[in-house]
Amino acid sequence: YKRITTKSLVEMKNNGEKIAMLTAYDYTMAKIVDKAGIDIILVGDSASNVMAGHETTLPITLNEMIYHASSVVRAIERSLVVVDLPFGSYQGNSRSALDSAIRIMKESGGHAVKLEGGSEIRESISRILTAGIPVMGHLGLTPQSIYKFGSYTVRAKEDEEAEKLKEDALLIEQLGCFALVLEKIPAKLAQEIAESISIPVIGIGAGNGVDGQVLVTHDMLGMTHEFHPRFLRRYLDLFSEMTTAFENYISDVKNRDFPNENEQY
Ligand code: KIV
Ligand code: NA
Repeated sequence: YKRITTKSLVEMKNNGEKIAMLTAYDYTMAKIVDKAGIDIILVGDSASNVMAGHETTLPITLNEMIYHASSVVRAIERSLVVVDLPFGSYQGNSRSALDSAIRIMKESGGHAVKLEGGSEIRESISRILTAGIPVMGHLGLTPQSIYKFGSYTVRAKEDEEAEKLKEDALLIEQLGCFALVLEKIPAKLAQEIAESISIPVIGIGAGNGVDGQVLVTHDMLGMTHEFHPRFLRRYLDLFSEMTTAFENYISDVKNRDFPNENEQY
């Protein structure tokens, strides 16, 4: 694939090729992730935690999401860029949801938007789709609802919630979304959903029976180091590596070792 499109993702599902997705919020990181060959870059509202240091994803604004997304879009050559609609920008009514999605597409150049929820936001999803904007769904442990859930534990372990989740996944397919993220739900349930709908299902903490995986880049690089859920595989320990680099720089400066003869004019 020269450039990943919503179409190529469906082809990947049909061919049994897994989809790899990671987050990015800035130009430099997006450039590295894109060049490595990622299929989808998510400009997640996890920027609220990772970039801004908020406790939840709720405070990040539409303007801030557009700033992050436009930085990412300038870096990419191949990946599909999906941008989260932030809390409060789409739940109220479908007209403001559409306005939010249009602003993201126009002002950032992103390729699609992601919204959290199922039947509660069906009108918003439909209205955004009527404007020709691709929508990715997101069900399970949806972090914008953290105060409703009360904790970050696994969702849909009970039958009632699992049934609602399956219905919402079907609805998301029927409305015309191009893909669905399932976050922190039992692997068996996630696999069942992935097998029952034709659009790609991307999991995070949802097991290996889905069509693709997503992680927060800063987590998988080991930069955020107080966070260690079971689903997180760490590919580097950048927190330690960076700490060592900073300590070495500090001591080089203090010891007058930096700059040396070759590092000055
Ligand atoms: O904001 C985010 O990073 C996300 C992923 C974890 C799916 O929504
Ligand atoms: Na998100």
